[in-house]
Amino acid sequence: MDDRSWMRLEAEPAEHALPADFAARDPLAGRDIGWVTQMRPFVRQFCPPGGRVLDPFAGLGSTLLAARLEGRKAVGCEIDAARAEQIGERFARLGLAPPTVFAASGDTLADGAMPPVDLCLTNVPYFGARWSGEAVPGHLYGSATYEAHLAGLRDVFHRVRDTLADGAFCIAMAQNLRLGERMLPLAFDLARILGSLFVLQEERVIVYDRPVSPAAPTDARSNRSHEYALIARKRRETVDLAATAALLETLRAEGHRFTVFGSFARWLQDPASVTPADADLQLAPDEDALDALLQSLARRGFSLRSWSDPVVLPLRLDLYHGRHYFRAERVDRTGALVRLDLCFG
Ligand SMILES: C[S@@+](CC[C@H](N)C(=O)[O-])C[C@H]1O[C@@H](n2cnc3c(N)ncnc32)[C@H](O)[C@@H]1O
Repeated sequence: MDDRSWMRLEAEPAEHALPADFAARDPLAGRDIGWVTQMRPFVRQFCPPGGRVLDPFAGLGSTLLAARLEGRKAVGCEIDAARAEQIGERFARLGLAPPTVFAASGDTLADGAMPPVDLCLTNVPYFGARWSGEAVPGHLYGSATYEAHLAGLRDVFHRVRDTLADGAFCIAMAQNLRLGERMLPLAFDLARILGSLFVLQEERVIVYDRPVSPAAPTDARSNRSHEYALIARKRRETVDLAATAALLETLRAEGHRFTVFGSFARWLQDPASVTPADADLQLAPDEDALDALLQSLARRGFSLRSWSDPVVLPLRLDLYHGRHYFRAERVDRTGALVRLDLCFG
């Protein structure tokens, strides 16, 4: 891999392409299955030799095959039992031992005996796919709404985070979607989800050839021959500690009541202790007091989120039952981040 921000995807070598009979019996004719060629450079670049690659949406195993061909261990999770089984068959045809594949939803991963993984590499299920296979609860091709789909993706990547070694990368590929006359920013929403769980590092745009037709005047539709590889990493966030401390002083002076705890509290006591990745504030679950603090942060330009959903003000605390904290973040013109977690559970 070089440092170009785009990669042209050339034809898949016949020996690694999805065999035609797999496509023929597949509910989506294998249209959502990635290319082995697409994944191999990412395996080489982001997984140490001999390391373990996880695909939480394993499909028909293209990522797992890429991992194995690059001398890495491969482990997958695929909710559709028929597809999960066919991965072993695909490997066997190439004379390879089957990878470990859990025929289960990706958000149940940590419940199994999953060893730590060195790279998560996947392409995510698209919302609105016309899946005619088995309808299993939790199958994201069955998501009734776009919002539920994003929540399901988040649940899976949340579990992925538990299984990833510290410092390991999580790379997810996605396109923005066209659904009827609407474009849905799936790739961009996914970036936001990954950014809430990991530290976003980079993007690569993958381009490939597709038949071309002239575009009619004012018709914005493209032939959708690109996708994004979103590259995130499991590591501690770097925050602007001085700006965070100054902000907490200002909020106290405004009359907001909270207790600072965790690593930021320890760092305030002892600047030689572990550098905090955010400031954790404990607050009483008082709707008015929380609302006043959130309004004050919003006025100062902070984004307010509950998991990856925006927090709506004035606050209705009952809408966030079971979520335990709000995240307030602001990035300044130099890229410096202030991040507060307001815990109310
Ligand atoms: C875009 S395809 C992945 C293709 C795969 N990376 C490959 O190249 O072979 C997405 C896959 O996610 C699976 N899927 C959907 N919801 C899931 C869930 N909750 N957990 C695990 N897999 C899921 C779908 O059945 C589908 O096979």
